[in-house]
Amino acid sequence: MRCVTLNGNTFYNGDCIAGAAAHIPDGSVDLIVTDPPYGIDGDLLHRHYNRDEGYVVDGYVEVPAAEYGEFCLRWIAQAERILRPGGSVYIVSGYTNLYHILHALRETSLEEVNHIVWKYTFGVYTRRKYVSSHYHILYYEKPGGTRTFNLESRYGLTEKDAGGRSLNYGDREDVWTVHRDYKPGQVKNKNELPPDLLVKMIQYSSGEGDLVCDLFLGGFSTAKTAVGLNRRVVGFEVSPAIFDRRIIEMGEAVPGGLLPDLRRPWIEPPQNRGRRWTGEEIEALRAGYRRLIDGGATKKEAVRLLGLEFGRGRWAIEKMLKKQGL
Ligand SMILES: C[S@@+](CC[C@H](N)C(=O)[O-])C[C@H]1O[C@@H](n2cnc3c(N)ncnc32)[C@H](O)[C@@H]1O
Repeated sequence: MRCVTLNGNTFYNGDCIAGAAAHIPDGSVDLIVTDPPYGIDGDLLHRHYNRDEGYVVDGYVEVPAAEYGEFCLRWIAQAERILRPGGSVYIVSGYTNLYHILHALRETSLEEVNHIVWKYTFGVYTRRKYVSSHYHILYYEKPGGTRTFNLESRYGLTEKDAGGRSLNYGDREDVWTVHRDYKPGQVKNKNELPPDLLVKMIQYSSGEGDLVCDLFLGGFSTAKTAVGLNRRVVGFEVSPAIFDRRIIEMGEAVPGGLLPDLRRPWIEPPQNRGRRWTGEEIEALRAGYRRLIDGGATKKEAVRLLGLEFGRGRWAIEKMLKKQGL
């Protein structure tokens, strides 16, 4: 299988099922963000999801509808295998063949975290039925480890909008309105995902240096965004025509290049900073620490969660745990 390495990130031109089996070790991936072909036969695709086929890059490989169920079982089994315990996966899907993806997920050990609805603009114009203007995003985790969820990566818990509503809460509701890029006259991949959508998933569910995988690269949108956020990337695209065209753009992505433009959340300083610990608090801290570690949390994650619970900074929590011999 042809492979290109750029800035330490590896991209394979080939089938992701065979490719993952051959090249990606068990439990090595922190996060999968992927958007598989939809299994809708031929030229009806654009009628369902408002795609202007005229400007779509040649070479897109679709899976015949009759084979779609088996295809989902096979690639989702690979996704389960390559994720680390506690790793997470986001799968973007239309509604037509969603049931095949849900069925395949239930055949694995992966557990649902959220079923997100992505509402977009430019839905198909209809007269005798409702306008379809959403996709599904299935957010699952592999049990057995601590899942990364960067609670305040985008909005601090106390930040409010002009109407007094919590920005953090609003950002974490499971209906996301994210506009698709409208690129009239520009060549694009089918269903190219908007950067804002990808940034959100990658920010909440991974840290810098984590390994992000996209099994269906298409226009390499996930890969470009992940590199821009300073994550490591591995991915697959079966079509030689798409791969050859998009790998050139991929080479232009600057590691960490998106970081300076990210919104900086305002995070409230811990409310108990500098206050003496009471005996009761110390007991509760000891119990909380044991509960988290017994539940599979790493020490780093336990310290972070205890900091939120006790309103103290990382350093204060670490110091008290050390004093307690923990
Ligand atoms: C829906 S598109 C992905 C779009 C991508 N998320 C983007 O933003 O541009 C699905 C892609 O998967 C590719 N594909 C189809 N079968 C594949 C397989 N077995 N392995 C790897 N890629 C495959 C298609 O050629 C297509 O480019």
